[in-house]
Amino acid sequence: MTSAEIIDGRAIAEQINGETMARVREIGRQGIEPGLAFVRVGEDAASKVYVGMKERMCARLGIKSATHVLPAATSEAELLGLLAQLNADSRTHGILVQAPLPPPLDPAKIFAAVSPAKDVDGFNPVNVGKLMLGDPGGFVPCTPAGVHELLIRSRVEMAGAEVVVLGRGNIVGKPMIAILLQKAPHANATVTLCHSQTRDIAGHCRRADILIAAIGVAKFVRPDMVKPGAVVVDVGVNRVSDPAAKGGYRLVGDVDFEGVRKVAGKITPNPGGVGPMTIAMLMRNTVRAAAMAARS
Ligand code: GUN
Repeated sequence: MTSAEIIDGRAIAEQINGETMARVREIGRQGIEPGLAFVRVGEDAASKVYVGMKERMCARLGIKSATHVLPAATSEAELLGLLAQLNADSRTHGILVQAPLPPPLDPAKIFAAVSPAKDVDGFNPVNVGKLMLGDPGGFVPCTPAGVHELLIRSRVEMAGAEVVVLGRGNIVGKPMIAILLQKAPHANATVTLCHSQTRDIAGHCRRADILIAAIGVAKFVRPDMVKPGAVVVDVGVNRVSDPAAKGGYRLVGDVDFEGVRKVAGKITPNPGGVGPMTIAMLMRNTVRAAAMAARS
């Protein structure tokens, strides 16, 4: 039985983090100390874990971080006030408002209030627009940027490839297709985005040379949906109840890894695939924001 080559996201992320650390030292010699502000609203358990991981990576790479924790009942005006303060603070080069935000806060309005120059998440409409236009001067959302970097560093040919993305979210699916359809090196793919109203998703998947799952359904991608030799990237993080596991649940991706690895040519494990890349790209975006601020 053949088995897909594993795309080691942890190892590739470590390589990028090493490059970022070197860049931090370099700009440090010019007197620039990159600073990243985290804003977390409410007590979403997953958000606490994610922000904690990002804080620790900042400390490791020499990025100064500050976390602002606000109660779930925070008003829009209060949150906008904090963002205005951070936008004006010259030591803060990047601002990350952790999603999801508790209702009735409107994420679109909040993300639009982060200065585009500090928007290391790439969620401000100015950066979303730059990505669509192919302007490399903006910030690209970290998860799809991380998937792209995984494909590049795994020497996956993207020009002319049939790429199928599952999931039309603003954080992954939509920016993912925008990256891969660019007329640019490591892009030039033919992209298809499938969602809940797509007819015959399995049929689309079976045509894919590169299949990227960000649909939020545990083990959605089964072996019979994958073309032999295809590259499969699993972005999903789904909680499934498991009485035997610590906390009563475990995390599974959007891909049936054990089944699909027997068909695919290359596959990301989950965990250990896309997750570490998201953090690595956030760190890289932050150091870039700091260097750009010094030049402006
Ligand atoms: N929630 C899930 N993914 C992300 C992300 O990339 N950035 C932020 N801010 N929140 C998220």
